[in-house]
Amino acid sequence: MATPVVIATGNAHKAEEIQALLGPDFACRTLADFPDAPEVEETARTLAGNAALKALSLVNWLKQNEDWNEGWVLADDSGLEVDALDGAPGVRSARYAATDSHAGNTPDQKNNAKLLHELSGQRKHHRAARFRCVIALARAGQYGKPEIFHGVCEGQIIEEPRGENGFGYDPLFQPEGHEQTFGELGESVKSQNSHRADALRKLKDWLVAR
Ligand code: IMP
Repeated sequence: MATPVVIATGNAHKAEEIQALLGPDFACRTLADFPDAPEVEETARTLAGNAALKALSLVNWLKQNEDWNEGWVLADDSGLEVDALDGAPGVRSARYAATDSHAGNTPDQKNNAKLLHELSGQRKHHRAARFRCVIALARAGQYGKPEIFHGVCEGQIIEEPRGENGFGYDPLFQPEGHEQTFGELGESVKSQNSHRADALRKLKDWLVAR
């Protein structure tokens, strides 16, 4: 029987990507299957901290409310790191354009506009950047420290958005070895080369080797 993996996301697209990479020995569920599970505020200072926070909160909620002790609980957090900005937007990627009067996540378009503004005047070789993804994997029903997997995708920030695919900073991010942005390259290329795919491959190797 397939091992259950509950993913701390309501994003069906992310869940499909994870299910495809894990394969048929694992059966993924998401927060859509547990609509009463509370949303966890990402208050940690690192991607790994937020991923662990989300995974352990869901382990706790599933145990208390669903008597769920089977398989794994998985949570991820990701972000963009730009060298010329000392690693910003980093853990604040989803709310980069937020102001004091407007906390919380901000629209992709505003985040992208802020990024271009902050990088204006920077030459190509100063626009190196990478997407990072951290996945926390915890045993359902147990409160132990989760296993952490890191994924990375190197590239650079171009000067104007290109392409309609993907989300977030994809139209501005040109992955290493490509002339097009993730926004232009589309899902099939991205799902093989992304930071999430890198972390997921490590996670799968770990699960299979156990
Ligand atoms: P999350 O933790 O996966 O929800 O990602 C946090 C933020 O990082 C998103 O809101 C995006 O702004 C950015 N981000 C993460 N992954 C990607 C990606 O694959 N493409 C573009 N932006 C991303």
